[in-house]
Amino acid sequence: MKRHIRLAVLLLFLLSSFLLPTPPTLSQRAPNVEQRVNALLAQMTLEEKLGQLQQLDGEGNGNFRPEHPDLVRKGLLGSTLGVRGAQRTNQLQRVAMTESRLKIPVLFGFDVIHGYRTIFPIPLAEASSFDPSLAERSAAVAAQEANNVGLRWTFAPMVDIARDPRWGRITEGAGEDPFLGAAFARARVRGFQGDNYGAPDKVLACAKHWVAYGDAEGGRDYDTTDLSENTLREIYFPPFKAAVDAGVGTLMSSFNAINGVPASANAFTLTKVLRQEWKFDGFVVSDYTSVRELINHGIAANEEDAAAAALNAGVDMEMVSRSYNMFGPKLLQQKRLSQATIDEAVRRILRIKFRLGLFDRPYTEEAREPNALLRPESIRLAREIAGRSMVLLKNDRETLPLNKNLSSIAVIGPLADERRAPLGWWAGDGKEENTVTPLAGIKAKVSAQTKVVYAKGCEIQGDSTAGFQEAVNLAKASDVAVVFVGESHEWAGEAASRSTLELPGRQMELVQAIQATGKPTIVVLVNGRPLSIGWIVNNVPSILESWMGGSESGNAIADILFGDVNPGAKLPVTYPRTVGQVPIYYNHMNTGRPPEAENRYTSKYIDSPWTPLFPFGYGLSYTTFKISNLQLSAPRIAANGKLTVSVEVENTGKRAGDEVVQLYIRDLVATMTRPVKELKGFQRVSLQPGEKRRVEFALSHEHLGFWNREMRYVVEPGEFRVMVGANSVDTIEAKFEVTN
Ligand code: NOJ
Repeated sequence: MKRHIRLAVLLLFLLSSFLLPTPPTLSQRAPNVEQRVNALLAQMTLEEKLGQLQQLDGEGNGNFRPEHPDLVRKGLLGSTLGVRGAQRTNQLQRVAMTESRLKIPVLFGFDVIHGYRTIFPIPLAEASSFDPSLAERSAAVAAQEANNVGLRWTFAPMVDIARDPRWGRITEGAGEDPFLGAAFARARVRGFQGDNYGAPDKVLACAKHWVAYGDAEGGRDYDTTDLSENTLREIYFPPFKAAVDAGVGTLMSSFNAINGVPASANAFTLTKVLRQEWKFDGFVVSDYTSVRELINHGIAANEEDAAAAALNAGVDMEMVSRSYNMFGPKLLQQKRLSQATIDEAVRRILRIKFRLGLFDRPYTEEAREPNALLRPESIRLAREIAGRSMVLLKNDRETLPLNKNLSSIAVIGPLADERRAPLGWWAGDGKEENTVTPLAGIKAKVSAQTKVVYAKGCEIQGDSTAGFQEAVNLAKASDVAVVFVGESHEWAGEAASRSTLELPGRQMELVQAIQATGKPTIVVLVNGRPLSIGWIVNNVPSILESWMGGSESGNAIADILFGDVNPGAKLPVTYPRTVGQVPIYYNHMNTGRPPEAENRYTSKYIDSPWTPLFPFGYGLSYTTFKISNLQLSAPRIAANGKLTVSVEVENTGKRAGDEVVQLYIRDLVATMTRPVKELKGFQRVSLQPGEKRRVEFALSHEHLGFWNREMRYVVEPGEFRVMVGANSVDTIEAKFEVTN
């Protein structure tokens, strides 16, 4: 009997060691990766090669589809999208590893954008922290959770620059600025991938959407873009370049057309820039059916044409549509595709699969999954990051922070106790039951004597004002009213373009009704994009932009409302007054007739100020800061020289707090028009009351140049202005000269 037990234990051990991850035997850059790729390639049939270029999506619930095992068995499916769960991925993987001819593992991908189960603030919010290390840490938690449910690849970071808040996907990126965007791109890639994306708590990242997707005309998702190569290189490329330099393994080609050529068939962006200039050696996956959509774009008559156009331009893996698979053999025969092109795409994909250690560690340890999700330290981090990502937009008469011992607080509004919106559009497998709502956060924060009353007032969208009276009555009977308004998760993210930036439904009237009670009113915005909230700004004493703050949003909001956390975040995007100002961004050109209040014939509006409601980089604190004493290490530098710029920053208020010191430059005279300001440095510093510190920035060649008329990156001699401040408008400045 005992022998039987021992035998069973041994058997179990053997079985589990088969399933358990063995440490990767390959380091990512090991030279034998190329040998292994080539050896494998030499054994593959054309069908198996095309199979590696195919990605199909699973069912919404994470299951693979009935056809998948057979496709995998035949070597016709190299990757899936959305299949997840350790058990399910192992099940499909077992088919690849034991039943397919060449035993090439399946690569499991999913949109883990700002968290898998522990949901962090939307990326636009994280960018507001102006602290890329936070994004790195949240991406690391997302990677750890994702890896434990069998995923090895995330379709993130989304690094599209967005200058148009009508575009719903502004929520997914780091805002409007290429310098800030590059810093966050780098940080997120590092967080997801670490030094070795084959490690058991990491995933392969995917910088998307390559490229200029955020420039959609009219802010209408998927719409076309038409922009100069300079703008591409200076505004839209830098975050991608940063991701590539940080070692990102994959990119996703976008849906939009760029200057007449769809991004998923664009040899200029996919091959010339990415491969030849940047030496990217990972692979490019199309966006969802973006290969087949080349027909709709009108550059392909049928799927055959589409496959040829995309693969020849440099899209290696096809997501969901199956044009490569269906027409690859015929196109090869017709010589519209070369064997070398197909082989190169396969090689890029296999290379990444080897670097991922997939061949050595194809399975996920199933026992780890339950303990991997929502770890206490992950939840704590989500709360910390959310608190550091919320922007205090207004705080007259020190209305905030609130006292925890107030006798009564009215919590009002359709977003006060709403669980889904704070998770944002891409919520991974985040669950509503794990979301802390603002109402719950406030209740948990106040003293036992404080009465917290709640009324929804109205729906987020919808026309009824039936709930107003109850809300007004509660506000009247309370010491303060905190009103939560904004957007639903469905009004942010993909295909959520808007034609106005007003609060949806009757929410603005709800705020007005509460404000009219005369009770101190605080508005907390829960939203995925800047909104036109001029009335609120003019009439309500305190406004907190909480964005969509993730699972711990409600706790983080309460931390700020009651002063346990002093807000220090800044807007990574310009807040317009009205939608008619869009696109509006701080790094615009000066024009020949820059706006002058007294002169009609200058570049402005006759029916609205031309300035934003809140500028880029703006945000308040419960304390005050002074930035002064700007110093330069030299009055002039050579074009390849280095300049140190420093300022003193002092906490002049009574609370400890954070200031984001921002450095901007302007090239005053150049052979091309240059922006009135360009962010080239930022530092978030924490200071005790009365504490003063000198903050230094280094400026060099990479900060001072631009792409000239010949499309060469140059630093031109001449005068520059350097501006340092707490936002993009309130700055102190000096000049320096760049010499030949
Ligand atoms: C379409 C989106 O544009 C992209 O961002 C996403 O990764 C894919 N769908 C897969 O879900």
